[in-house]
Amino acid sequence: MVTGVFISFEGIDGAGKSTHIEALRAEFARQGRAVTVTREPGGTELAEQLRALVLQMPMDALTEALLVFAARRDHLLRVIEPALASGAVVLCDRFTDSSFAYQGGGQGLSLDVLGWLERQVQDRGEGAGLRQPDLSLWFDLPPALAAERLALARTPDKFEAQGVDFFGRVAAGYQARASADPTRFARIAADLPREQVWAQVWAAVQAAGWLA
Ligand code: TYD
Repeated sequence: MVTGVFISFEGIDGAGKSTHIEALRAEFARQGRAVTVTREPGGTELAEQLRALVLQMPMDALTEALLVFAARRDHLLRVIEPALASGAVVLCDRFTDSSFAYQGGGQGLSLDVLGWLERQVQDRGEGAGLRQPDLSLWFDLPPALAAERLALARTPDKFEAQGVDFFGRVAAGYQARASADPTRFARIAADLPREQVWAQVWAAVQAAGWLA
């Protein structure tokens, strides 16, 4: 039986995850794997509705965290767990590290509260421990560079409209999560030309033994 693989993609807004998610999807499909591409907050009808609220409405950090973790619970139960159980590769644009980086680092919400939510929402039951990505690709980009890229892009959502200071704190939030779990994280230097970023993505996934 094929074992499922769970890969998350993380980084501040403007770090350029999207093209690499698509490239990785194509690569896994080429090698005959079933692939589920999804995103957070989102991935189910309920979670997409919660996403629209979180990205558009002003609210405090705890409210934001409760909504993103509610979306995550629905997403895990309906999409991620069934896909992994069927042996698929799940490529998820953001997961819990985003909550630690944005609500924790960016907005200053207590990491204990976030840790408690993580344990409730990601508990797999029957002593199986917490569901976590097998690999988290962290697209690390200096916040000033990300801000330049975003300025050229579409109309910003609530988070994208934040200043460089906010993204500095978000980046520090990612750094703390990566330091706490270095085997799960692969840091991708995202301030390089696209092919060089892709080479790092490919190398990280290949090193895990999932691509020939
Ligand atoms: P993003 O993934 O960047 O999608 P798009 O490319 O369509 O803008 O947008 C999601 C936003 O939600 C991003 O700014 C980070 C934020 N977010 C949180 O604040 N907490 C979370 O737990 C998650 C998953 C995302």
